[in-house]
Amino acid sequence: MKRMLLVLLVSFGPPACESARDETPEGRPSEALLIAHRGASAYAPEHTLPAYRLALEQGADFIEPDLQITRDGHLIALHDLTLERTTDVRERFPDRFREEADGDDLVRRWYAMDFTLSEIRQLDAGSWFGPEFRGARIPTLGEVIELARGRAGIYPETKAPGTYSESGHQMERLLVSELERYGLDRRGAEPSTPVIVQSFSVQSLRILRDELGSDLPQTFLLSRSDAEEWTSVEGLERASEFAEGIGPARGLLDNDPGMVKRAHAAGLQVIPWTFGASDPEDHGRLKEEMARFLCVLGVDGLFTNNPDLFPRPRANLPRVGR
Ligand code: G3P
Ligand code: CA
Repeated sequence: MKRMLLVLLVSFGPPACESARDETPEGRPSEALLIAHRGASAYAPEHTLPAYRLALEQGADFIEPDLQITRDGHLIALHDLTLERTTDVRERFPDRFREEADGDDLVRRWYAMDFTLSEIRQLDAGSWFGPEFRGARIPTLGEVIELARGRAGIYPETKAPGTYSESGHQMERLLVSELERYGLDRRGAEPSTPVIVQSFSVQSLRILRDELGSDLPQTFLLSRSDAEEWTSVEGLERASEFAEGIGPARGLLDNDPGMVKRAHAAGLQVIPWTFGASDPEDHGRLKEEMARFLCVLGVDGLFTNNPDLFPRPRANLPRVGR
């Protein structure tokens, strides 16, 4: 039934993906953006060069590095503050953990900020995902930029910037200076490699814009707990003071689809996260879900782990009668 409804919506409107895109105000992209979430992370280990490379091959408009900082101040692409979920750090550096309380338990955690870049380069960040990826490394932001430059955009996320500022590193400053090194620190500097910065942290986005004078487009990420404060007409107006887009958790839009119109009225793009399926049996459903968000809810792009399943409005969807 759901599938039939989608087919009807896609075949007969409303609103056509194409016309929805054509209506976007000046400054917004003319087509929906495909952002490869942690690379093509449904098929390759997240935040490794193989995952980013595959995302480029699958036609991603942007690849998404989450950022963490090494002890010696290098930006690396890594989602977690710690290394144990996605690397062999336990085996390679067995004594370099911090012991922390987790409820009633004591747990061992290996924080990226306790390791130098040269140590982090020794870690295997691929085997946890599959033996064929053994030896994949955690890349630096610079390496991600070098891979993408000229082929796609970069959508870096400042992760836990407050934690790092306590240990003396300002993530925003490091980000701007790394982008500057590649000539990508100004809006439109290299049209083949646009940069959009994202964060859950208002403070981080404000530092970038107000303190560091960055004119790069910014996306303000929203989790469930942010909805009340930021998704009203007034909240979105306030967000538009420091961001060009919002990145809501997709469930927020299911609960409140009208948010898209309100955000657009405030001049904000809407780029929800995250759309992914590792089991091929779920791929059809995922594709339908992405099409629904793009063509029915009218979002401006998506973060997806499966870039190959992104329903390109112009290329992959049936044309809509006008
Ligand atoms: O950046 C969008 C989305 O990636 C936010 O969630 O936890 O995957 O970084 P997370
Ligand atoms: Ca992210």
